[in-house]
Amino acid sequence: MSPSPSRSLSRRGFLATAGAAGSGLSLTAGVLAAGFNPQPPLPKPGQQHVFGLKHPPLERVRVGFIGVGGRGMSLLGNLLDIPHVEIRAVCDVVPERVKRAQAQVQARGQAEPAGYDSDERAFEALCRRDDLDLVYIATPWDSHVPMAVTAMRQGKHAAIEVPAAMTIAECWDLVDTAETTRRHCLMLENCCYGEIELLVLRMVVQGVFGELTHAEAGYLHEARDYLLRDLPGANWRRRFVATLDGNLYPTHGLGPVALYLGIHAGDRLDHLVSMSSRELALSRRRDALPADDPRRRESFACGDINTTLVRTALGRTILVQYSMVQARPYSRINMVAGTTGTFCDYPPRLHLDGQPEGWVTDLQPYHERYGHPLWKQLNAPARASGGHGGMDYVMNWRLIHCLREGRPLDLTVYDAAAWSCLVPLSIASVARGSARWRIPDFTGAWRDQPPSPLATL
Ligand SMILES: NC(=O)c1ccc[n+]([C@@H]2O[C@H](COP(=O)([O-])OP(=O)(O)OC[C@H]3O[C@@H](n4cnc5c(N)ncnc54)[C@H](O)[C@@H]3O)[C@@H](O)[C@H]2O)c1
Repeated sequence: MSPSPSRSLSRRGFLATAGAAGSGLSLTAGVLAAGFNPQPPLPKPGQQHVFGLKHPPLERVRVGFIGVGGRGMSLLGNLLDIPHVEIRAVCDVVPERVKRAQAQVQARGQAEPAGYDSDERAFEALCRRDDLDLVYIATPWDSHVPMAVTAMRQGKHAAIEVPAAMTIAECWDLVDTAETTRRHCLMLENCCYGEIELLVLRMVVQGVFGELTHAEAGYLHEARDYLLRDLPGANWRRRFVATLDGNLYPTHGLGPVALYLGIHAGDRLDHLVSMSSRELALSRRRDALPADDPRRRESFACGDINTTLVRTALGRTILVQYSMVQARPYSRINMVAGTTGTFCDYPPRLHLDGQPEGWVTDLQPYHERYGHPLWKQLNAPARASGGHGGMDYVMNWRLIHCLREGRPLDLTVYDAAAWSCLVPLSIASVARGSARWRIPDFTGAWRDQPPSPLATL
């Protein structure tokens, strides 16, 4: 692969914000402190981008799992439904969860995977094994990057849950490690594989909506009781909500619309501004707890809803919202508008030039004409295996398929970094009165890349 001409200092020379470049931001959580380093790490001599990265085909894919809580067990279930996958090792800090995962693997006819449960660093021993191709990471947000970096340095591909990283420094860590180790580093953004999202992607690619100018995305998922639950080891989301104010979970909404807009294939996320409402809904729910409940003393930093506006290098705009506390039905918004038409989700509907006034809600003809080949092929096993209506199965199947065929993956480490960096940058913008923040160019080569293979299948 030829080195990118812009793999130089230029993409790293950005200052994090026009308004606060180089200043020490006094954000509450230490986890973010490293994220605002205005001097991103310099690339090593000869370091090249990983667009189009391929590895020799794997006959079978040997997987190690770190984190077998709620999400990890669901991913494990999908993988056990996919042929040519061997689960060789599982790791969690809760020994009972390791045993539960081992039993699930054995129940599906595979040998008992090795278990790692000694402490918080037990994942390092898992990564050192010489019989793994791929490490899945489904642990709390601030542990993803150390685990993925360790896995890649030990020669494994890394598949990380969302968001992949919590700070700008962590985003660069992922990029630099993937580039220097030449390993795949994939963020498991399952929403990119939804049946509707892939239908819209095909329609976008075929020009149905004309030239795109705007998209809207979100994660609007009411979960007040879930956030307030008091189970040992399960309160980590509340820890973030208590200390950080911004978009803490941007990628479910942003991922699919970034694919529609061809982000990293001729365009990139350039800058953002962000604003949060005041916090009220979670406090009100907390106040309904019994008077002697210790949670009554907790307070929350994250506003009820965060709204972030992103402008791309080509001058397109993306609205990204986040709320886990508003009393409302679930939505990822999933809207895209172009010069000749608009698609809106929740519920799915579209309007194209020439149609009568109003939305078209019967999308069956569009499914028949533009339905994505992955869903045509995998509909039955995806629905049987499940996971968010089948999209989790499609994502996992496709990852295994690409590794077995030696193909580039659908999503790159640059997608993981650029989509995840909305977490620290939205927080930074909110903290500075909605200041404008530059979004780093993690790629140095976004102008010349082809669309994701998902768009051209
Ligand atoms: N893509 C999706 O649709 C989706 C859905 C849910 C969760 N997630 C993501 O999955 C991740 C996990 O979320 P969850 O809901 O399963 O949380 P969880 O608390 O149910 O599970 C996390 C697991 O990680 C384990 N763990 C924590 N630190 C560890 C360490 N150092 N080593 C090994 N294991 C460790 C915990 O014991 C727990 O079993 C998060 O990043 C979350 O955002 C994604």
